[in-house]
Amino acid sequence: MDKEDYQLDMNNIPAHIAFIMDGNGRWAKKRMMPRTFGHNEGTKTIRKVALEANRLGVKAMTVYAFSTENFARPEEEVQFIFKLPKKFFESYLKELIENNVQICMIGHLDKAPKATRDIINSAIEQTKNNTGLKLCFAFIYGGRDEIVHSTKQIVQDVQEGKISINDITEDYFNSTLMSANLPDVDLMIRTSGEQRLSNFMLWQLAYAEFIFTPVYWPDFDEKELHKSIWLYQNRERRYGGLK
Ligand code: FPP
Repeated sequence: MDKEDYQLDMNNIPAHIAFIMDGNGRWAKKRMMPRTFGHNEGTKTIRKVALEANRLGVKAMTVYAFSTENFARPEEEVQFIFKLPKKFFESYLKELIENNVQICMIGHLDKAPKATRDIINSAIEQTKNNTGLKLCFAFIYGGRDEIVHSTKQIVQDVQEGKISINDITEDYFNSTLMSANLPDVDLMIRTSGEQRLSNFMLWQLAYAEFIFTPVYWPDFDEKELHKSIWLYQNRERRYGGLK
């Protein structure tokens, strides 16, 4: 089927789509290539999917680029992934700017090498006034870590008398998260056939629809995006209520 065969309801486009970009290593292995070749190809998918999501009117797209657990990977692979932002923004930032895309990130950028930090901060700065898709990189990110981080901040604010315990509502907690300026996630897509969350956006995914596709991330494309949104539009979201 072509992407046009998935007839989308343009009034029901998910506001925020979160991706667990999995399968880069296996994609490369299938081609007898090193895992890093798969990560490199994966960055091309980010560009492709972001431009199409932007065209469809998706407000935010978060991609899980590096988890707090990924430091356990071989040093060489970690170093390679840390160099990808430079490659990505050198190749695509101009085009993303032309398309009004805003770059943002969640995670502990302070734990990245300075060169990686600088390139990401520069992309954020250059796109801060753009009003199209927010393309958010979850980089050195962990969902539990984010919740603990917010909790510490809130406890400190209570201790310093800035807020009282009764001020701590779900909305307030949400506003302290790294993703505070992003809409709730409507759709979470994990590629490569694995069916788990791997510590990704635990709070933000509370009411999201989940799609697990066997397609490896480097093979995910505009057509797969349309198919996923079509599947999402044909699900019934009840938020705990009745239809
Ligand atoms: C998982 O595949 C994918 C990752 C660990 C993400 C790699 C990062 C990128 C493609 C983008 C980084 C880009 C920027 C601009 C920050 P895997 O290695 O777990 O695949 P496998 O399960 O097949 O081994």
